[in-house]
Amino acid sequence: MHHSTREHGNELLDDIRQGEAFDYQSDTLIGTRKFYLESYGCQMNFSDSEIVASILVEQGMAPTKVLEDAHLIFLNTCSIREKAEETVRKRLKEFRGLKKNNPDLLIGVLGCMAERLKDKFLVEEQLVDIVVGPDAYRDLPNLIQTVDEGSKAVNVFLSREETYADIAPMRLDSNGVTAFISIMRGCDNMCSFCVVPFTRGRERSRNAFTILAEAQNLFDKGFREVTLLGQNVDSYKWENPETRQMISFAKLLEWVAQIHPDLRIRFSTSHPKDITTEVLLTMAKYDNICKYIHLPCQSGNSRILNLMNRTYDREWYLDKIDEIYQILPDCAISSDMIAGFCSETEEEHQDTLSLMQYAKYSMSYMFFYSERPGTLAAKKYKDDVPESIKKKRLNEIIQLQHKLSLQHNEQDLNKSFRILVEGKSKKSDAQWKGRNSQNKVIVFTPLTEVNPGDYVNVTVTRVNSATLIGQHLIP
Ligand code: SAH
Ligand code: SF4
Ligand code: F3S
Repeated sequence: MHHSTREHGNELLDDIRQGEAFDYQSDTLIGTRKFYLESYGCQMNFSDSEIVASILVEQGMAPTKVLEDAHLIFLNTCSIREKAEETVRKRLKEFRGLKKNNPDLLIGVLGCMAERLKDKFLVEEQLVDIVVGPDAYRDLPNLIQTVDEGSKAVNVFLSREETYADIAPMRLDSNGVTAFISIMRGCDNMCSFCVVPFTRGRERSRNAFTILAEAQNLFDKGFREVTLLGQNVDSYKWENPETRQMISFAKLLEWVAQIHPDLRIRFSTSHPKDITTEVLLTMAKYDNICKYIHLPCQSGNSRILNLMNRTYDREWYLDKIDEIYQILPDCAISSDMIAGFCSETEEEHQDTLSLMQYAKYSMSYMFFYSERPGTLAAKKYKDDVPESIKKKRLNEIIQLQHKLSLQHNEQDLNKSFRILVEGKSKKSDAQWKGRNSQNKVIVFTPLTEVNPGDYVNVTVTRVNSATLIGQHLIP
């Protein structure tokens, strides 16, 4: 999954964003209780934080981005790799320091780590007052009240139905141009390395009409791009209770695309076993569905894919790649790769490298295997690839992707793209940045007045492995 503030090839090489606080216009509600909310993990978590903010504001609380002003501090946490959890623990210890000066400060942990560790946080570690899992955010007002009355509070109930369909997320950390829309929750896939099915529960799809209404509303407010989010968007499936019609992901994509030709659609994440030809044909049919697919592969070797329980093999994946490039010749494809999964040999690692070359990924998120307690892999297989070898293999994967990204970008030299302007570039006030359909960031110097949300044409004049530099074309 990817996010608008991330640019390709940054050295984090990590799908996981680190502790970003919402950028609020705060202090409008002087005198009310203020909450500070910091988020870690994938886009789903950031999207959930917007729901949490909405629920708290509904209670009359006000967001703040100044930690010291907060009466309540919430961390929305991630469990995907050990490192992600370590970062959160460190942060919680810092917050405990704040509590010494301000005993009324209430600290809550939300999200996947809350779900995974449950009341261990309260009982063993004494770090927090509230623990809330991803399906229990509606209960936050009650939980806060419980703490106000002097107890600790936990709700880690996982639901089969909750999709927060009716809650309008509070878009406070926003460039006003791009937004996420959660279309489903949970995951039923049970990849053997992955903690998500345990932290997010069963897969369920959100009412399609509420998704359309949210997209329409964003467009009406001036947003020009929505990213439909789910751990496995291709298995989106919702039955219209009135007509009994089954809405597939392809159908949903089409409906959102029909809202307006100037509203771009992206989606993440696609699972190689579930992405359908119908989805690819729908992408081909609508210009405003971006030609970019994040199709995590994890390994290029069939034996490892089998141990990972990914339910496809190398040949199946390569066939998908062929089909995508055949139906969508200008599509960019990206991936996630794990180096050093249990029992992976050097030869099997080489298969990952050759698959990456074949797929010609525009970018990848790359990790070394981190065993997660409770997962199938932790129970069944030995985490037996030494850390030094994991790191060496990961480094080879990173070096190769670096080369592939550069080659991919070099192919864009002298081509023109219609890009959606997101704002000024970080480096210079004179330069602006936007993205093309393939999800590549293009930096350019405007020749006329441009505003976030405008579409402009640029020709690519220079590239590196991370960014394209373009020349603004006057229409
Ligand atoms: N639903 C998405 C992935 C969500 S997690 C999918 O199926 O593709 C994002 C990425 O984190 C995964 O694709 C995987 O590459 C990585 N990841 C998950 N568990 C991991 C683990 N235990 N160790 C290392 N990387 C892991
Ligand atoms: Fe995890 Fe696999 Fe589900 Fe992705 S599809 S969230 S990797 S179990
Ligand atoms: Fe992390 Fe949970 Fe997302 S474990 S990657 S925040 S679903």
